[in-house]
Parts: sequence; structure tokens; C-alpha cells
Amino acid sequence: MTARVWHVSMECVPFSKVGGMADVVGALPAALRGVGVDARVLTPYYPQLYRGEVGAEVGAFDVWIGDAPHRVRLLEAGPHTVLVDQPTAFDRPGVYDDPTRGEGFDDSLFRCLVLQLAARVAFQRGILEADIVHCHDNHTGILPAYVKDDGGPKSVFTIHNLAYQGVYGADQFWLTGLSSDRFYGHSAFEYYGDLSLMKSGLLHADLVTTVSPSYAAEIVRPEFGQGLDGALRGLGERLVGVINGIDTDLWNPATDELLPFPFDASDPSRKADVTRALRERTGLNDDPASPLLGMVSRVTHQKGLDLVGSILPHLMRRGAQVVLLGSGDASILDLFRGAAGRWPGRVGLLTGYDESLAHLVYGGADVFLMPSRFEPCGLSQMYAMRYGAVPVVTKMGGLNDTVPPFDEKSGEGVGVLADWATAESFQGAVDYALDLWPRKRLFSQMRTNAMKRDFDWERSAARYAELYEQVLSA
Ligand code: ADP
Ligand code: GLC
Repeated sequence: MTARVWHVSMECVPFSKVGGMADVVGALPAALRGVGVDARVLTPYYPQLYRGEVGAEVGAFDVWIGDAPHRVRLLEAGPHTVLVDQPTAFDRPGVYDDPTRGEGFDDSLFRCLVLQLAARVAFQRGILEADIVHCHDNHTGILPAYVKDDGGPKSVFTIHNLAYQGVYGADQFWLTGLSSDRFYGHSAFEYYGDLSLMKSGLLHADLVTTVSPSYAAEIVRPEFGQGLDGALRGLGERLVGVINGIDTDLWNPATDELLPFPFDASDPSRKADVTRALRERTGLNDDPASPLLGMVSRVTHQKGLDLVGSILPHLMRRGAQVVLLGSGDASILDLFRGAAGRWPGRVGLLTGYDESLAHLVYGGADVFLMPSRFEPCGLSQMYAMRYGAVPVVTKMGGLNDTVPPFDEKSGEGVGVLADWATAESFQGAVDYALDLWPRKRLFSQMRTNAMKRDFDWERSAARYAELYEQVLSA
């Protein structure tokens, strides 16, 4: 029997994107169809973020939040995707934040309830048919409780990032419409007196996955469990790590239209032209002897870019150039802005979210820096590798699982790992990459290994298919 699986997510490429989860939900279902799973996606329609065509209405109904009805329309977007159209919730300039509504405005619980109730009602009425609903991150953590309450499809819940838990005041629980006797308690939604959507997802789903085996092993420990390690330990074998892949058609330097010049592992010669274009775009000196260190990132505590900021004087002494494309934390961005003023032509800062600049940085950088304090999987380092930027990363989560260290003797491995997310440890790792840089044969061996590494979704999709079978036969 072909399992019918609906993925439900607040983000999905090409309809919306804040981080890697959007890439995953955009690519995994197609890979699943490739291994015989009937996988589809339900995600919001954000008219301000997605300007493409949308298709026919496949359903329309009210969802009740608290004591108010909200009209929802389900719109087809291609053969495998349905969009939830609810303008009050989703006609916004951003997926999670709404800068137009001012400081302190937060109705994210309302928005994610609209998505989850749309799914619930669509399953109840048979508008969407599922054997399994696959929920992504805290914003869909109530849905496993809904389908359980309804005797509906089985559920799988994937943790992309435990740092965002969807914690709201307990006084908002009634908005879910669930019985508090059954669902509000320590073994359900309740989290230190508040309401935690992440915890609900963990405790109500039939199976919980996260996006790398190393992260799955880390988060059951108090240092990395973000307060939920107890609940996670309690899952035992029902917590499984499955590494993400990448969309190798979308992220292919040989065919990428966002790159000024194509190149690939068999002929990386034109990468140097991309590097020149990146230098030009960011005002860096045209100095090919200088290794160009790149970063593309959300700028948050997780990503550890402050560590790079603090070793910039050292990197300058070593003759490197540095480019950051990022948006987020103003104080960290200011640090790089200051550095760009202090070392003109050697440090470049690109602020904001820009898909085509991201491709240019991956394609132009010689080395890609990712000093994450924790990293559930990380896609950026995989894009960087495919685009010939050698990763220097911390030995955390998915970075540990996707970046085998380069070994000079055997010539194997793809990058450099820092044992700790400290400035000192990370500096040591970058230093090693900078030592390899002038040893051209070794450096290009490492780069070729990185570019040839297989990050296809196929193996992970097969693993999910196996897990779906287990859930259905349990
Ligand atoms: P996370 O999801 O934690 O942000 P990932 O490495 O999984 O980390 O995914 C990040 C994704 O977001 C990548 O596709 C990366 O290219 C993209 N990205 C991050 N910052 C920017 C930016 N400023 N502009 C364009 N793309 C960005
Ligand atoms: C989260 C994590 C990142 C992961 C992505 C996709 O945003 O921070 O490590 O790659 O989700 O699973």
C-alpha cells in the first residue's frame, strides 16, 4: 500500500522561507514520491511573499479559534501542494514577524492555529486524505493532539530547531478547543506553568524525528535539551535522527542561473571568476592570493558569528578576506559593519535576506565559516561544499554528521572541525584551513572532495519511508 502523507509546515520553498526548514519541506516530499510514498504539502498562502500563480479552490470552511469563526480556503498549487488562504492570518510581510504592527505585537499562536485547524478540518471532512500527517516544528505541535483526539491519521513530528518552542500563556489554551482535562497537564502541553507547542508535538506524535543523528543524541542531554531533555529522554526509541539532504537540482553550480559563471567539480576553473564577481559586488580588493572566507546566515546566538567577529583582527593579520551575508541581531551586524569600515577592501557586509546573493557567496567563497553553538542539521555548509567553499565548522549536530575532517595523509575528508564553539577553538580550525590554502594541491584535493560529496535526499527519503511503515504497522 502506498502511504499517503501530508506534510504540514509554516514555511515551504517556493511559497515562503525563513530558514532551512523551508528548503526541507520544499524538497523532501518529491524525494519521498521517488521512493513510493504519496507525499504532499499543506502550507500557508502568503500573498505578500509568493507572487506566483495559485490554482483552483479545493475546499472552503470555517475554523473556530476560541469562540470566533475564521473563513479558510484551500487552494491547489501544483499537483502535490495545497495552500491555506486566510488573509487575516497570512497576508503579512513576514512568516513569523509582522514589523508593520509594531513592537510587542504577537499573534503567532492565532496564525499557527489557523494552519493546524485547516488541516484538522480538511482531514475530518475527507477533503484531504492522509494515513500520516508529518508536522514540522513547534508551529504544528498541536496537530498531533488534534488527530489523536479525532482518531484521525497517525502523526510524525520533526524537530528542526528546539530553540524555538512556541511557549504561550496557559490562559490561551482554551483557544485550541481541546479538553484541558485530557490535554493540559504535565504529560501534555504544560511546560513550567505555560503552554508549549513543541512539547505537545513531542508527546502526542506517534514518532518524533530530528534532522541529524548527532543532534538526536545531543538533545537528550541537559546542556542541549533547552529544558525539554527530560521529555525527549522519555521518548526512547521513538526519537530518531534522520539527516537532511539538499535539492541538488536547485543547488547545482553547473546550471545555477543565479551564478554569473557555471562550474563544477570536474572543472572548477571558473569558480575563480565567480570569486572575482563576489569581490566586485562587496567592494573587496581583487587579490586572488588572499583566501576569501564567506558566511550566509541568520544572525542569531545559535550561529556563533560573534566568535568570527572576535577573531577578525587575527584573520586580517593572516591575510584573509571576509564576507558576511546575514540578517538578524543588530549588535553582531554592527560588529561586522565596524570591521568593514576599519578594513576596507578586506571585510564585506551584506545585510538582509537575498537568495541570489546567497548563491554568489557560496559560489565565490574559498572557505565557508559556520561556528554554530548548536546546529540541528545545517544546510548552508552542504550548499557551500557543493559550490566549492570548504567548510570550517563546529563539531555540533548535523555539522558533525556532514563534514568529515580533512586528513592530509589519506587525502580524505572535506573540511575542518572545531571541537568547541569558542573563539579560541574556532580560530584554531580556521588557522588550519589557512595553513592549507597556500599548499595548493592539498587545498584543491579537499575542495574536490567537498564538491563531490553526495547530499542527495534519496537515502534519507528511504529512511523516512521505512519509519512511516513502522508507524502504520504499530
Ligand atoms: P537555519 O535553518 O538554522 O537558518 P540552515 O543552514 O539549515 O540554517 O538553512 C539556512 C538557509 O537559509 C539556507 O538555505 C541559507 O542559504 C539561507 N539563508 C540564511 N541567511 C540568508 C540570507 N541572509 N540571505 C539568503 N539566504 C539566507
Ligand atoms: C533549523 C536548524 C537547521 C536545519 C534546518 C532544517 O532551522 O537550525 O540546523 O538545517 O532547521 O532542518
